[in-house]
Amino acid sequence: MHSDTGDLYRGFAEQEARGNSAVYQDLAERVAEDRQVRALLDGLPAAKRQPNLLFGAVRHLGGPVTEGWPAFRAWVTAHWDEASATILERRTQTNESGRCATLLPLLATLPQPLALIEVGASAGLCLYPDRYRYRYLPADGAGGAPVAEFGAAASPVTLDCAVSGPVPLPATLQERLPEVVWRAGIDLDPLDVRAEEDVRWLESLVWPEQTHRLDRLRGAVRVARAEPPLLVRGDLNATIRELAAQVPTGATPVVFHSAVLAYLSPEAREEFATTVRELPGHWISNEAVSVLPAVARRLPRPAPPGSGLFALALDERPVAFTGPHGQSLDWFGDA
Ligand SMILES: C[S@@+](CC[C@H](N)C(=O)[O-])C[C@H]1O[C@@H](n2cnc3c(N)ncnc32)[C@H](O)[C@@H]1O
Repeated sequence: MHSDTGDLYRGFAEQEARGNSAVYQDLAERVAEDRQVRALLDGLPAAKRQPNLLFGAVRHLGGPVTEGWPAFRAWVTAHWDEASATILERRTQTNESGRCATLLPLLATLPQPLALIEVGASAGLCLYPDRYRYRYLPADGAGGAPVAEFGAAASPVTLDCAVSGPVPLPATLQERLPEVVWRAGIDLDPLDVRAEEDVRWLESLVWPEQTHRLDRLRGAVRVARAEPPLLVRGDLNATIRELAAQVPTGATPVVFHSAVLAYLSPEAREEFATTVRELPGHWISNEAVSVLPAVARRLPRPAPPGSGLFALALDERPVAFTGPHGQSLDWFGDA
């Protein structure tokens, strides 16, 4: 008989790691079958048993994740006190600047200048859409010339995004990035781009084979270090109104988030939605398709099963499916 933890790791191996990380797929499958490692995980609170937390903690502590299951298992069982302390202290806070490539077309259509408020900001790396370079590529995979290429000329970060459908990337946008005059974020546990330990934690959360994401992360950290973001510690529902009240006059407030609301209960998500509807400005959400019911109800077509795609929406009106790390943007015909 399998425990819930076994199912959790088996599901992760199949639905998340397969095709993305052979290393994590193998480790997760082995954890699912290993009674002793499962028992260690079962001693943690349920929310702390996630594969990404376990694997991230082992990497953060210098344990072996790419050397195969016997080395991983031996290390985890011998160092469980250290590993569990890191798991209890940290959260899955993967900060993916690549998601800016999917937010940018919407941001550029709003009345400028913008005041950005990101809830669930992690280290705030998505607060710099005006500091990255963008390369929008045809989604057919044929390796054609970029559909559009523009951005901050000297940026250490270039974000590639495969586009399909009528994405609004007009010529004017190629000459004009959004003008951001104020940027701030909220997180339960904000990470500080100036703190080595926090940056190492962010790096530990990038899956082992995804070296392009590690390079991107390091570049985005350099961008943020040059102008560290204002990050407020707290629950998004408890702090959003107060932060929104600080937006400078003359700027369009934009509350946005990606890969965050899934961590909230349905009631807390509804509370957030009610609050944001009452705030001035606009609301951009980029979350797994079923996370916001008002967005899910309006989708013109279902996401392909098992695709892991997010739904991008402006003021609860869905406009596109997006790759979960910002790698694709599939604009809806009537959006
Ligand atoms: C997976 S990360 C995504 C970070 C960032 N939005 C991005 O797209 O790269 C989710 C973040 O949401 C934060 N978070 C989760 N629940 C929260 C809450 N109730 N209030 C504020 N932040 C929260 C976590 O601490 C974490 O940093």
